Amino acid sequence: MPISFDSENKIFKLDTKTSSYIFQVFEQDYLIHLYYGAYIPDNGVADLAMRNCNASFSPANAVIGEHGFSCDSWPMEYSCNGTGDMRISALAIRNHHGNASTDIRYVSHRVIKGKPALEGLPSLYTMTDDDATTLEVKTLDKVTGAVVYLYYTVFENYGAMTRWVRVENTSDKPMDIQRAYSACIDLPTMNYNMIHHYGMWCKERTLVSRHLEHGIQAVASKRGSSSHTYNPFVALADDTATEDFGEAYGFNLVYSGNFAADIEVDFNSATRLIMGINPTDFCWRLEAGESFTAPELVMVYTAEGIGEMSRIFHRLYNNHLIRGEWKNKKRPLLINSWEAAYFDFDDDKLVAFAERAKEIGIEMLVMDDGWFGVRNDDRSSLGDWFVNEDKLKGGLSSLIERVNALGLKFGIWFEPEMISPDSDLYRAHPDWCIHVPERVNSIGRNQYILDMTRKDVRDNIYEQMCAILSNNNIDYVKWDFNRNISEAGSALLPVERQQEFFHRFILGTYELMGRIVDTFPHILLENCSGGGGRFDPGMLYYSPQIWCSDNTDPIERLSIQYGTSICYPVSTVGAHVSACDRTGYETKGNVAMSGTFGYELDPIKLSDSDLRIIKRQVKDYHKYYDVIHNGDLYRLIAPTANGHRCAWGYVSQDKNEAIFTFVTMLRCENSTFYVRLKGLDPEKYYYDDETCEVHSGALLMNAGFNFKNLPRSDGSSFVIHLKAVDKK
Ligand code: GLA
Repeated sequence: MPISFDSENKIFKLDTKTSSYIFQVFEQDYLIHLYYGAYIPDNGVADLAMRNCNASFSPANAVIGEHGFSCDSWPMEYSCNGTGDMRISALAIRNHHGNASTDIRYVSHRVIKGKPALEGLPSLYTMTDDDATTLEVKTLDKVTGAVVYLYYTVFENYGAMTRWVRVENTSDKPMDIQRAYSACIDLPTMNYNMIHHYGMWCKERTLVSRHLEHGIQAVASKRGSSSHTYNPFVALADDTATEDFGEAYGFNLVYSGNFAADIEVDFNSATRLIMGINPTDFCWRLEAGESFTAPELVMVYTAEGIGEMSRIFHRLYNNHLIRGEWKNKKRPLLINSWEAAYFDFDDDKLVAFAERAKEIGIEMLVMDDGWFGVRNDDRSSLGDWFVNEDKLKGGLSSLIERVNALGLKFGIWFEPEMISPDSDLYRAHPDWCIHVPERVNSIGRNQYILDMTRKDVRDNIYEQMCAILSNNNIDYVKWDFNRNISEAGSALLPVERQQEFFHRFILGTYELMGRIVDTFPHILLENCSGGGGRFDPGMLYYSPQIWCSDNTDPIERLSIQYGTSICYPVSTVGAHVSACDRTGYETKGNVAMSGTFGYELDPIKLSDSDLRIIKRQVKDYHKYYDVIHNGDLYRLIAPTANGHRCAWGYVSQDKNEAIFTFVTMLRCENSTFYVRLKGLDPEKYYYDDETCEVHSGALLMNAGFNFKNLPRSDGSSFVIHLKAVDKK
């Protein structure tokens, strides 16, 4: 039973096949947390909650404080501000008296089959009620009338749970939510490494790891998007955990706006993690009768290493986050015009690309930025989503017909949330862009941002997009977002609601994106934000793939894709081969194949020898597709491990096929290079395509390979493709 309640001891127990999560309704109806970790069959863990308090400096409940209970030191299930818990708090509601002392206590609970959707927000979903079970715990702050529902969905077969929170104002007075994190997780020790990403444009999601220290450590975004800088992901991995062994907890927020993941190690050397909407620049007015939903947090626990944590996320997202026609479906092999032509194209040039692409075996042409308004560079026309007939002389339909006639599908680029100051839309509606009174708007890439909190603005963009998408045979849309938000305010929001702006902005984006996806379900949507500036599970709910980075250099891509793989499956990672000259086309292809795969170059400029490599590569892409996209990822050597090499692979579910990729980033004079493979069946024998040798899985995983005779020059790479055979 995934969710049980021991009514005598008032203990909730949530179980997946490999993990247990336990909390209790304590005296005075406080919810205290007891355990989160490897599966245990029983629930006698109440003693774990008792912790030293900070003497009289930890104010305690007057009735039960004498028994040693203190909100300031005991593990709390959902920590509240201003009533004795001095650590970072998940919930703070300013009441009509003007103070933000908040205190929720248990009222009741119910178990729901399956999983309810979150209003207005992306979330994981179930196909049948047997896929998951949800616990709803109702709590109440008696003084303010705030009813807070804590939700827990158990994906029993995955080793995963998700959590979110809904606050309802049952009083007759308004209240202001100052913070409502999606979850609070209290762990008894500080013996963890915090793994997270950092980055910037062209350097997204580089993984870093540091040991927890006393005090607060955090990653967050207040850029209006999940951002290039940090990702809404953190893991806490046991001190001793590696890729293959040890405990790891992974946390990933299904949200594309301002987020925060705060971790505090307290005076008891215990750890608290809270994760949710960033409270900076956030305050939500809740009128009587209104309710507010905080986004969903995905939580994975495994005792089998960081690699297994990633694989659990991948399975969960492929099956319960990615939706629609393109879920688990092979994506068309595309060529994108951006790095091939930037703004300098016309219909004939695109058709010439398509002709050559057809010869190569490419299945779709994507026309990137530059087809609309009078956009010949990035200084104008965002918001004017009508075709530039100086460039596309016979119009869009004629171009698409020509491309379709070659047997290629057609895709198109939009940046729906943006507006150029030099655009018809801006001249007609200068108040439609985000701005605050009396301040000059900052500019980013020569553009402003549309006020997505406004329905009239969203409707206008929706109508414009529909005019293009309904009247033309379009199979794919790339949805871009090329700057961060500053001077955040809306002309329509009242003063007391201005700090709702950031959250309302992303809700508006979700609403528009959802409308487009619902109206055009056959379209493959690829998100993008100057590369991977909005690579998060929120966006994946709408678009099954996201352009991973504007950096297409295969060597620099290694740390970007490696970092992205920590929780996002290969099916989501937009990766293209470009003309960049750091390596030859073999390595560019070998790296991009660990993604959606495609090309982003002028195919007419390819030399004969490069063309030959690319044609073979397209064949390899089809040959390896199944094992890469339906297999399990095993990371072998991190690009950051020694700076010389990077290696990873995929093993099919039945362990009958595997592919491993090895890249030499920087030549190393040391000639010996042993690598032990992972994920194979030790009992099986595998035939290697390249060498025609047969080795046991046990040999390949324990003794490993000595690669002394394989390519080792800077930027070289090779793949090993293995198939199980009967016997040597
Ligand atoms: C962003 C994207 C690129 C391209 C350009 C077009 O930078 O990441 O792939 O679409 O915009 O302006």
